[in-house]
Amino acid sequence: MKWALDEPGVIPAWIAEMDFAVAPAISEVVKDYVASDVFGYPDIRLNPQVIDAFVAFVDRRWGATIEPERVMITGDVMEGMRLVLSHIAPAGPVIVPTPVYPPFLVMTRDMGREVIEVQMSDDTPNLDLAAIEAAAANGAQALLLCQPHNPLGRVWTRDELTQIRDIARAYGVHVISDEIHAPLVWPGVELTSYASVTDETDLATVLMSATKSFNMPGLRCAQVVSSRAEDHETLSSLHPVLNHSMSTLGMRASIAAFTESDEWLDAVRTRSAENHALITALLADQLPEVSCLPAQATYLAWIDVSRVATDDPMAGALAAGVRLDGQNYGAGTDGHLRVNLATSSDRVREIVRRLSSAQSGWRAS
Ligand SMILES: Cc1ncc(COP(=O)(O)O)c(C=O)c1O
Repeated sequence: MKWALDEPGVIPAWIAEMDFAVAPAISEVVKDYVASDVFGYPDIRLNPQVIDAFVAFVDRRWGATIEPERVMITGDVMEGMRLVLSHIAPAGPVIVPTPVYPPFLVMTRDMGREVIEVQMSDDTPNLDLAAIEAAAANGAQALLLCQPHNPLGRVWTRDELTQIRDIARAYGVHVISDEIHAPLVWPGVELTSYASVTDETDLATVLMSATKSFNMPGLRCAQVVSSRAEDHETLSSLHPVLNHSMSTLGMRASIAAFTESDEWLDAVRTRSAENHALITALLADQLPEVSCLPAQATYLAWIDVSRVATDDPMAGALAAGVRLDGQNYGAGTDGHLRVNLATSSDRVREIVRRLSSAQSGWRAS
């Protein structure tokens, strides 16, 4: 989708897909699958293999202990979120710290749920725990967490997650922690899963998937981890038609990602950190009115363009030949854009060169 929207010549740096070929083990799985001539509904015999590979991966990579019997397979992370909101988290308002990955807001509202946005600012890009507690005290039933955070690239600390958990316990709020970007934590940064601060009594769900960090979002497979046995039971007992968009290919590719692709992933993590440092330096040099928020994970940069002259910086960027993302991240996030850095350093340089051209209008007035 990243390269499908625009005419050739425009550099797409919007949707979260990478410009990198997938890991060799994943490529092999896809070739074998095509050669098999068997393309039926998902092969559910693979479920235990996917789950074992996933559990071993999160333990090896960031030391989270996940009980295999609390993991369910679904088609993608947003489907998992929808199932949990529909069937586990009681009806009522949903707290969403913003800015945030736009589908959190779009999907939750589309389900008829009231969203309570809790804003973070560039100066203090931290979870506003007091505002979250106030929303919980006012009757919110669920909280959508994003760890690491898209678009801020922040990794919430164990202390922050523990405070969230305490609020959730005090007010009976179900926390859904979307950890799809967790494998993309930068080298040297410690990552805590929400699963590591909760136990089997907590109203908590962790969502994960190999598809984002291994660049295969078109192959369907994600994991839903319930803290409570009864939540897992409820989700697993749903009629298959409510949870059937995973694919055999996605399941096989996820096993290959979780078990045989660490080296590839480490290269992407290093490249992500390097490209973030590169764009930060290039902007400081060529477009000092635009600043880049420091990050600790993901291949995304959240940039503040509120001091540039144009009132539609996304259109300005497109006119200069770069497509960026910046709509529907939450109230008060105008003046910010997200740049996808999963590309070559040359392309990052070209992105900044184009943005700093007169054509973009990206100059202080
Ligand atoms: C935080 C976050 N959650 C979910 C998704 C979408 O995941 P999926 O395609 O598995 O629904 C994305 C995609 O970029 C994301 O950034």
